[in-house]
Amino acid sequence: MAKLYHHDVLVIGSGAAGLSLALHLPKHYRVALLSKADLYQGSTYLAQGGMAAVLHTRDTIDSHVQDTLAAGGGLCNREAVEFTVRNSRRCVQWLVDQGVDFDRREDHTDREFHLAQEGGHSHRRIIHAADATGRAISEVLTEKALAADNIEIFTHQVAVDVVVNGSRCEGAYILNQQAERVDLFQARAVVLATGGASKAYLYTSNPDGSSGDGIAMAWRAGCRVANLEFNQFHPTCLYHPKAKSFLITEAIRGEGGKLLLPDGSRFMHRFDHRQELAPRDIVARAIDHEMKRLGVDCVFLDISHKPETFLKSHFPTILARCRELGIDISTEPIPVVPAAHYTCGGVLVDTNGCTDVQGLYAIGETSCTGLHGANRMASNSLLECIVFAESAASHIERTIGDAPQPAPIGPWDESQVTDSDEDVVISHNWDELRRFMWDYVGIVRTDKRLQRAQHRAQLLQTEIAEYYSNYKVGNDLLELRNLAMVAELMILCAISRKESRGLHYTLDYPERIEHATDTVVQPPNSPLSSTI
Ligand code: FAD
Ligand code: SIN
Repeated sequence: MAKLYHHDVLVIGSGAAGLSLALHLPKHYRVALLSKADLYQGSTYLAQGGMAAVLHTRDTIDSHVQDTLAAGGGLCNREAVEFTVRNSRRCVQWLVDQGVDFDRREDHTDREFHLAQEGGHSHRRIIHAADATGRAISEVLTEKALAADNIEIFTHQVAVDVVVNGSRCEGAYILNQQAERVDLFQARAVVLATGGASKAYLYTSNPDGSSGDGIAMAWRAGCRVANLEFNQFHPTCLYHPKAKSFLITEAIRGEGGKLLLPDGSRFMHRFDHRQELAPRDIVARAIDHEMKRLGVDCVFLDISHKPETFLKSHFPTILARCRELGIDISTEPIPVVPAAHYTCGGVLVDTNGCTDVQGLYAIGETSCTGLHGANRMASNSLLECIVFAESAASHIERTIGDAPQPAPIGPWDESQVTDSDEDVVISHNWDELRRFMWDYVGIVRTDKRLQRAQHRAQLLQTEIAEYYSNYKVGNDLLELRNLAMVAELMILCAISRKESRGLHYTLDYPERIEHATDTVVQPPNSPLSSTI
C-alpha cells in the first residue's frame, strides 16, 4: 500500500548540494532528504582535487572571476560568477565550522591551508583534503544531517517525477526500491540536487547514478534547460581493464605531472602555451587528437619526479589504487584516457536556485547557474554546490510562508501496468545509448554524427515510452528513461550551436562566432509559454 509523506521541504539528492541545503534550512522545518542508493553514492564522494576559493593572500576575487570567465569560453554569466566567487571564502569557513578537516601547510606557523594548483587557475587556489576531498566533505555533512532532528533521511528511494499542481511544485512520486512501491512525498518546496548526466557516455568518471534524473524531471515539469552541449571530458581517467571510472586528479598536473606519448615524448606544448595546465577542454581534445593520430589506446601521466613521501601525503588514494593494479606511480607513468566527467549545462536557474516552476529549485550539478559557461574550470563545482545550496535555502526560508499547503492528489496509479518479462530491452538500450553518445556526441563532433545520434535517441525514446507505459517502474527503467531524455536534449543543444566553443567542438564549424549566446531549450508545457 503506497504511503503519503508530508514535509516542509523535500530535498532530492544527498551530495554536497542536497546535504548543504538541508543543513542550511532553519531547524524548525521538517525536511526529507532522499538518496537513490546509499548516502555515499554520488559524485561528491568521489571528488578528489578539491574546492576552489579565494584564500591565498596574493589571490583576489577578481582574479578567480577572470580565470572562470576565461575557462568558460565567453559564455559564463558574470553575475553568477561574481556571486559564487564572492561567497567562496565564507563557504569554506562554513565547511570548516561543520568539521571538514582540510589540509594545512606543515611548513607554516599559522597552519594556513595547503592550496593546490589546477588547470585554468592563475593562483594556487584549491583547498583540499589530500586527494579525497569529496569523501571528507560527504562524511562530515552526512554525519551532521543524520544528527539533525528536523532532517529525515530516506535512502534507496528514487524520485520518479515531481508533482506540479497549477503553477506550483508540491511534491514528488518516489519509488521505494525495497518495498517496490511508489509513494507520494508532499512538500511546500522541492529541491532537485540529483547530480549530473555523464553516465550518458560509455566512458565516464562518474558513479552509476549520474543519469540526469533531476534534469529530466525538471524538463517534464515544464522547466527550461540550457547549455547541455557542454559536457566536460576529464583528460585523465585511469586506463586499466580492472579500473572502472577511476579519476587521476588534475592536481597531479598542478604538481608538475607531465603528459607523455607512448614513446615518452611530451606533446601539450603543441596545443597550448599553458601545456598540462591549460583548461580541460583543451587538454582533453589534445589527448583525443594524439590518440587518434597515433592509433593508441591511452597516453601517460608522469609524476615520478616527486618523492614517494610527497605522493603518500598528497595523493594517497591514487598511489594506493594504482599500486593495487600493479602501477607504481613513484617510478612509472600512469596510463590515462579522457572520460565524460561533468554536465556543465542543466536546469536553468537564477542565483537563488529557482527554476521556472514555483516551489521547484535546482542546485549543484543538476543546475545551470551560468557559472561554468562553455567549460567548467577545475574545482569550481563543489564551490557552486555549497554557494547555491545556501542561497536556495535562504530563498526557501524567505518565501515558504507564502506557499499554500499542497492540495490532496491521488496515489501513483499502477492499475494498467504489469511486471516486465523482458528486462533485456533496458540493458540493450542502455548500452546502445551510451555507445552512440560516445561515438557521435563526444569530444569531436560533426553535423552528420549529431544527426545520426538524434535519430537513434528519438527511436530509443519511443521504445522507452512504450515500455514505461506498460510495465512497473524500477530503478534501471527510470534511469534509462531519464538518460535518454537528457541525451536527446544534449544532442538538440549541440545541433543548434553552429560554432566551436569550449567543450563543444565540431569539425563543421571549427571557429567561434562573434556573439555567443546560451542554448536555452523550452519544453512545450513551460509556464512561460502562456505568458509570451
Ligand atoms: P552528487 O554528489 O552527484 O549527488 C547526487 C545525489 O542525488 C545522490 O545522493 C543520488 O543518490 C541522488 N539522486 C540522483 N537521482 C536521484 C533520484 N532520481 N531520486 C533520488 N535521489 C537521486 N568537483 C570539484 O569541484 N572538485 C573536485 O575535486 C571534483 N572531483 C571530482 C571527481 C570525480 C571522480 C567526479 C565524478 C566529480 C568530481 N567533481 C569535482 C565534480 C563534483 O564532484 C560534482 O559536480 C558534485 O559533487 C556534484 O554534487 P551534487 O550534490 O550536485 O550531486
Ligand atoms: C580533479 O581532481 O581533477 C577533479 C576536479 C574537478 O572535477 O573539478
